[in-house]
Amino acid sequence: MINELFEEEVRFNQASRPNWEQGATHRNLITGYLTDLADSSRGRLCVLGAGNCNDLDLQKLLQVYSEIHLVDLDESALRYAIDFQSVSDNPAISMHVLDLTGIGDRLAAFKSDPDQGEAELREIITALTGVQELNLPGPYDVVCSTCILSQLILQVVHAVGETHPQFEELMVAVREQHFRSVLDLIGEGGAGLIISDFVSSESAADLKDVPDFQFTQYLSQLLSSRNFFHGVHPGLLFAQLKGKAPLAKLVQDVEMLPPWRWDLGARQYAVAGLRFYLRMTE
Ligand SMILES: C[S@@+](CC[C@H](N)C(=O)[O-])C[C@H]1O[C@@H](n2cnc3c(N)ncnc32)[C@H](O)[C@@H]1O
Repeated sequence: MINELFEEEVRFNQASRPNWEQGATHRNLITGYLTDLADSSRGRLCVLGAGNCNDLDLQKLLQVYSEIHLVDLDESALRYAIDFQSVSDNPAISMHVLDLTGIGDRLAAFKSDPDQGEAELREIITALTGVQELNLPGPYDVVCSTCILSQLILQVVHAVGETHPQFEELMVAVREQHFRSVLDLIGEGGAGLIISDFVSSESAADLKDVPDFQFTQYLSQLLSSRNFFHGVHPGLLFAQLKGKAPLAKLVQDVEMLPPWRWDLGARQYAVAGLRFYLRMTE
């Protein structure tokens, strides 16, 4: 059966392919953060939601990582990416085509037949909160999730609708599962980078034009007027790894990076980044 939610992702990737030039600032920032996280032993990097890889300079990253594993449900986007960046023959690059949530098909089936009702959603939530075996050759020294979280949550919006009584619970389960997946893939002493777009020029028309020195203040205003994508308020992302959050004890040195702009041609996004390290076990 065709998965409508995934088809939407593939369409989005096709439409945003010619974005290499405009995306330079976004790409240079992410590539820079990932380069800084690589140590002299040239470890292994895994990128979740790599898609077209317009946000990764793979040639540069190959100089500092011995292996780069690109993960996405959209095989055509990954193939495009490695061809476009002339690394398709490089054995250090691996592609992994998979659904990171494991529930994408059930969510799409629910969208086509909402009569399945509460019991099916309960089972989906149970699956999201259970142990998930991702078919990936981890652990990795560095794991980066790049602008996939807002998409995972959007799939929930499209499948059940944001006014559904179980929407909130489902959305929280998807977000928590994603954070757990990132952490599970990181090896001892390794690092994580979770990057998420959280608002776009569609609802914040001035996003493109606000001068850099006013950008943070502008974002604070958007956030306080509740103008941000479901479930990815930067403060909420930070809270997943801090304080009493169940995952907080597994990580250390959690840091919110300064927000930046991602220019996707037709639309601009504000992006948040969270950097952290897996806590060393004694
Ligand atoms: C906004 S795009 C990321 C942009 C990409 N890094 C780039 O710059 O070209 C989000 C990516 O997440 C992927 N994705 C969405 N849901 C997924 C899932 N359940 N499992 C794996 N990948 C998923 C999409 O196919 C898409 O490539």
